[in-house]
Formats: sequence, C-alpha cells, structure tokens
Amino acid sequence: MKRLILSSSNPHKIEELSSILKGLPIAIISKKEAGFGDLEVVEDGDTLEANAKKKALAMAERSKEIILADDTGLFVDALDGAPGVYSARFAGEGCSYADNNKKLLSALSGVPEVGRTAHFETVIAIVWEDGSVQTVTGRCEGSIGFEAQGENGFGYDPLFIVEGTGRTFAQMKDEEKNQVSHRANALRKLREVFEERL
Ligand code: IMP
Repeated sequence: MKRLILSSSNPHKIEELSSILKGLPIAIISKKEAGFGDLEVVEDGDTLEANAKKKALAMAERSKEIILADDTGLFVDALDGAPGVYSARFAGEGCSYADNNKKLLSALSGVPEVGRTAHFETVIAIVWEDGSVQTVTGRCEGSIGFEAQGENGFGYDPLFIVEGTGRTFAQMKDEEKNQVSHRANALRKLREVFEERL
C-alpha cells in the first residue's frame, strides 16, 4: 500500500480525504505523523495554485512519498475577487472567523442582492514520487448574504448562500455541504486522478 502524506495535521481534512479515497490502495498520513510537524510554509503566493504547490513542494524536498497540499479561498465578484488568497487573514493577521465575516459584510454594505455573487475555490496540489506536480480544482458558486445565518461549519459558512438552495453552508448538515462544496468537488477530481494513476 502506498503512503500519501497530507501537508496538514487538521483531523477534519484527514477524515474527509480518507473517506473520499476509500477503497484505493493508499494510506493517508498527516504531516505530523510523517515527522514533519515542524515544517512551516509561508503562504505568500498570488494564487491558490501557487500556495498549494509551494506547500506540497516544501514537503517533497523532505520525502519521496506522494504529497498532497490544498489551498482554499472565497472570491467575491463585487470586491474584484477579494478576499481570495487572503481569505484566512482578510481582517488582519491572527483574526477570527467572526472578524472576517464582519469585514466582509461591511465591505459589501449597500451592494444589492444581484451584485453579491461569489464562489469558493479549492486547489489541491499533488507531488508524485517522481517529483512531477499535478493540480486539481473544485468550485462552488453562490452569493454573500446580508447577515450571518446558521450554526454549522466554519469560516465564511454563515454568509455563503449556495447557488440554487437559498441556504448558507452553515444551514446545511455536514453531509449536505460535503456533496456540493468546493472541497468535495476538488476531492472527487482527485479520486479520479488516483484511480487512473494507481
Ligand atoms: P484553507 O486554505 O483551507 O486553510 O482555507 C483558507 C480560509 O478560507 C479559511 O481560513 C476560511 O476562512 C476559508 N474557508 C476555507 N474553506 C471554507 C469553507 O468550506 N467554508 C467557509 N470558509 C472556508
């Protein structure tokens, strides 16, 4: 069985990845379990793809196993794609999810419903054992609400209304979000890549 090292020690990401790759001959190992818990990468790329590749390649310098890293952002059309690659720190270094959501609402104050379209995007970078790099991308279309709605999820979930549903990610159960989310769409493509390759 091949080992795949995830450039994250977030248990939620490991669980999600294990579930989507179920049945394939791959063991998923966290960054920490692989002994790279101390590896810090500055996410200073201009794009999600650059950041995902940077994280994966930094780990590939220390291991010859299959490496995987992801980066996600929320792109709001009325804000020319902001917060985009800066989604985690939109309201400043060390800010909370609530700070980011507050900043997003104030940046969109006065913008009517038709102008509040947005999408989430996730890029996953894979470095194979021979050093070659491949990426897959997943998107989820939607819009930004006028106030926080729902209690589930994390990040911008209470503000992001999923296209065609009239509900925010935070109003969905995990199983429902995991059918339609940007990350789920990227992970489905990743499974196809692994099925072809292994
Ligand atoms: P990361 O690349 O997965 O760390 O995501 C960067 C930032 O995007 C996070 O800190 C969150 O603010 C936001 N984000 C990522 N995925 C989601 C999601 O599924 N829902 C809401 N916000 C998200």
